[in-house]
Amino acid sequence: MESEVKRPRRLALAATLGAVLAVAALTGSLMGCAPSQPAPAADGAATEQEAAGDEAMAGQPVNWTMESDCGTCHTSEAESATDTACPQGVAHEAAGVTCVTCHTDEAVLSEEHAEVTFDDKPATKATVITVDEATCIACHGELSELATKTADSAALTDDKGTTVNPHERPAGAKHEENPATCTDCHNNHSKDLPKDAMKYCAQCHHRGTFECGTCHELRER
Ligand code: HEC
Ligand code: HEC
Ligand code: HEC
Ligand code: HEC
Ligand code: HEC
Ligand code: HEC
Repeated sequence: MESEVKRPRRLALAATLGAVLAVAALTGSLMGCAPSQPAPAADGAATEQEAAGDEAMAGQPVNWTMESDCGTCHTSEAESATDTACPQGVAHEAAGVTCVTCHTDEAVLSEEHAEVTFDDKPATKATVITVDEATCIACHGELSELATKTADSAALTDDKGTTVNPHERPAGAKHEENPATCTDCHNNHSKDLPKDAMKYCAQCHHRGTFECGTCHELRER
C-alpha cells in the first residue's frame, strides 16, 4: 500500500501563471487548509501585481536546505498551523513542532527540491514519503497506547453503525499483513481526519460497510 503513495512525481510545473493561480484557488478551497482566499480581483489587478513581484525571482534556482523558510512556498501547509479548522496543525504549532521535525527525510526532500525554481508552485497533495512514523511515535507512543486513548472514539463508524477504534482494528489476516502507519490516516495539514481515515479503510472495505464475506465470497480488492 505504501508503494502506491511513493510514486515519483515529475509534473511539468511551468504552467502559465493564470492556470497556476486557478489551480491554487481550486485546491485551496477544496482540500487545502488555508482559510478561504478572496477571489482574484475581476480586473486582474492582484494577478498582475503578483506576476510583477514574482518576475525578478522567476526561473531562479532555489538553494534549498533543511533550514530554508518552508512557509514562503508552502503557504497552504504553513496556514494549517494557524487555521482552527486544522486541529492537528494548530496543536503542533502550539507545541513548537516545526516543519522539519516531522519532514525528516533530507535525502528525499533534497531530491524533490533539486530543480525547484522560485516560480514553481508546490502541490498540496503528498506524492513522496518524507515523514517517518517513528517521529510521531517518539512523541505520542505506540498504536497500542493510542488505542487506549481513543477507545471511545466514534470517528470510524460505517453505514450500519459499526464503530472501530482507529488505533485498533479487529484481528484478521488482511489487517496483520497490512499494518497501518500513522501517516496512512494523519496528514498534519488536513481538516478532516475521520474522512482521511475512512478513505484508508475504503481501500478494502467498500459499499459503506466494514463487513466482509456477507455479500459475496472474500476476494482481493
Ligand atoms: C506534526 C508533523 C508535521 C509538521 C509539523 C508538518 N508536517 Fe507537513 N505533513 C505531515 C504529514 C503527516 C503529511 C502527510 C504526508 C505524508 O504521508 O507524508 C504532510 C504533508 C506535507 C506536504 C505534502 C502536501 C500536503 O499538504 O499533503 C507538504 C508540502 C508539507 N507537509 C510541508 C510542510 C511544511 C512546509 C511544514 C511547516 C510549515 C509542515 N509540513 C509541517 C506532517 C507534518
Ligand atoms: C522556493 C520554494 C520552496 C521552499 C522554500 C521549500 N519548498 Fe518544498 N517544494 C517546493 C516545490 C515547488 C515542490 C514540488 C517539487 C516537485 O514537484 O518535484 C516541493 C516539494 C516538497 C515536498 C514534497 C511534496 C510531495 O509531493 O509529497 C515536501 C514534503 C516539501 N516540499 C517540504 C518542504 C520543507 C520541509 C521545506 C523547508 C525546509 C520546503 N519544502 C521548502 C517548493 C519549496
Ligand atoms: C515533537 C513532538 C511531536 C511530534 C514529532 C508529533 N507530535 Fe503530535 N502532538 C504533540 C503535542 C505536544 C500535541 C498536543 C498535545 C496532545 O494532544 O497530545 C500533539 C497533538 C497531536 C494530535 C491531536 C491534535 C488535536 O486534534 O488536538 C494528533 C492527532 C497528533 N499530534 C498526531 C501526530 C502525528 C500523526 C505525528 C507524526 C506525523 C505527530 N503528531 C508528531 C507532539 C508531537
Ligand atoms: C488491506 C485491506 C484492508 C484494510 C486497509 C482494512 N481492512 Fe478491515 N478487513 C479486511 C478483510 C479482508 C477483512 C475480513 C477478515 C480478514 O480476512 O481479515 C476485514 C475485516 C474487518 C472487520 C470485521 C468485519 C466483520 O465482518 O466482522 C472490521 C470491523 C474491519 N475490517 C474494519 C476496518 C477498518 C475500520 C479499517 C480502517 C481503519 C480497515 N478495516 C482496513 C481488509 C482490510
Ligand atoms: C486508521 C487510521 C489511523 C491510524 C493508522 C493512526 N491514527 Fe491516530 N487517529 C485517527 C483518528 C480517526 C483519530 C481521531 C479520534 C477521535 O478524535 O475520535 C486519531 C487520533 C489520534 C490522536 C489524538 C488522541 C487523543 O488523545 O484523542 C493522536 C495523538 C494520534 N491519533 C496519533 C497517531 C499516531 C502517532 C499514529 C501512528 C502510531 C496514529 N495516530 C495512527 C486515525 C488513525
Ligand atoms: C454490502 C455488500 C458487500 C460487502 C459487505 C462487500 N462487498 Fe465487495 N462487492 C459488492 C458488490 C455489490 C460488488 C459488485 C458485484 C460483484 O462483483 O459481485 C462487489 C465487488 C467486489 C469486488 C470486485 C471489484 C470491485 O473492487 O468493486 C471485490 C474485489 C470486492 N467486492 C471485495 C470485497 C472485500 C474485500 C470486502 C470486505 C472487505 C467486500 N467486498 C465486502 C458488495 C459487497
